[in-house]
Amino acid sequence: MSERRYRVAPGGRLRGEIRVPGDKSVSHRAVLLGGIAHGTTKITGFLESADCLATLAAMRLMGVRVERPAHGHVVVHGVGLHGLRAPNAALDMGNAGTALRLSMGLLAGQSFATTLVGDASLTRRPMERAAAPLRRMGARITTTEGHAPIHIAGGSSLQGIAYDLTVPSAQVKSALLLAGLYAEGITAVTEHAVTRDHTERMLKAFGVNVDISASTVALTGGTELHGCALEVPGDISSAAFFITAAALCADGEFLIRDVGINPTRTGVIDILRLMGADIQLLRPRMFGGEPVADVRIRATPLRGIDVPEALVPLAIDEFPMLFIAAAAARGRTVVTNAAELRVKESDRISVMAAGLQAVGIHTEVRPDGIVIEGGEVQGGKIDSHGDHRIAMAFAMASVVARSVIEIADVENVATSFPEFAALARGAGVHIEELGSAQAESH
Ligand code: S3P
Repeated sequence: MSERRYRVAPGGRLRGEIRVPGDKSVSHRAVLLGGIAHGTTKITGFLESADCLATLAAMRLMGVRVERPAHGHVVVHGVGLHGLRAPNAALDMGNAGTALRLSMGLLAGQSFATTLVGDASLTRRPMERAAAPLRRMGARITTTEGHAPIHIAGGSSLQGIAYDLTVPSAQVKSALLLAGLYAEGITAVTEHAVTRDHTERMLKAFGVNVDISASTVALTGGTELHGCALEVPGDISSAAFFITAAALCADGEFLIRDVGINPTRTGVIDILRLMGADIQLLRPRMFGGEPVADVRIRATPLRGIDVPEALVPLAIDEFPMLFIAAAAARGRTVVTNAAELRVKESDRISVMAAGLQAVGIHTEVRPDGIVIEGGEVQGGKIDSHGDHRIAMAFAMASVVARSVIEIADVENVATSFPEFAALARGAGVHIEELGSAQAESH
């Protein structure tokens, strides 16, 4: 629990234009793949957040030389598929599920042993979903009753498998594909719900032949990766706080430049549009293998909806903010088939429901979702439970709130969006940061 907190006052209105920092998912993958590629990978727009820096530190501990010539610029001197060295300590992934689960796949194929640890929140999250299929490939992985710390024995010869992704998780899919690079034969993952495809796209940018047909992605082990130049798009998950707040209260048009609009990530835009939002995607273009656009938002009244279940995995990280949209919308919003929200950085269904109740919004919690009755958002005190996206969502709720909201335990905003409060203030949100930054206890 950190002492850092936000105090947000009502009356903010978003105006002007911003850029959000680089995409978290893409930044993790750029460092991981760059590290095992041959040659140099030059990354621009890298997200310098605690989560991505954990991945970077882990690769350095395994002998990858990394230069950081300027903010957001990272040069990774890849060591080749078999060039990583045994680290002399456990790899600490902090709060980052992506760093931990993707690394499990990457490390399953190494000749040396590794131990992966994380903070209290990460240690509560389920890891067998990645460990079990990796064991089927031949990896020797031990979890601590299904959680971190995780020990990977190394020195195993992996075999490609065909795996049916029962949990809709891009992290599990990616872990298997990364292990597949080290496996004999073909590793094929079939998904039943579309999840983000950044690993597949980036592997192609590194020269790996990835076969995608219908809902199956497959690759053959043993192919070397070749370093490349990567421009990371702005993170739509960070932009989502501003897109939603602007849909609720922009003063004229609000513009966010260079946002990643990979179709496996744009569920938040689709859901907001179904609620009546006016969101335009301008100047669509490509950054490497990833589509980007400028996002223009105008405020319109929003209405509650039944969120289509197919959109849930495509907006999985955006629900804290979508719940705020639902709170401010007319009528009821129903979210189903979203039990995954319970195993994120916090149980986002219960923690959001408690927060919404604290600001006067009625909710009905269900095992796999929530019903939110739109109404008048009041002031109140919120405990973010150390979850960055809960903290940011309630900070943005100030634009529709009647009085002051105080949000406790916001240090972890730095895991994904260190510039959040400054950007929000610049865009017109009445936000103050209070408390010391050093009080984190994990
Ligand atoms: C991510 C996948 C999602 C998402 C997370 C990032 C990724 O997790 O919630 O923030 O980069 O692959 P799951 O794979 O657990 O759904």
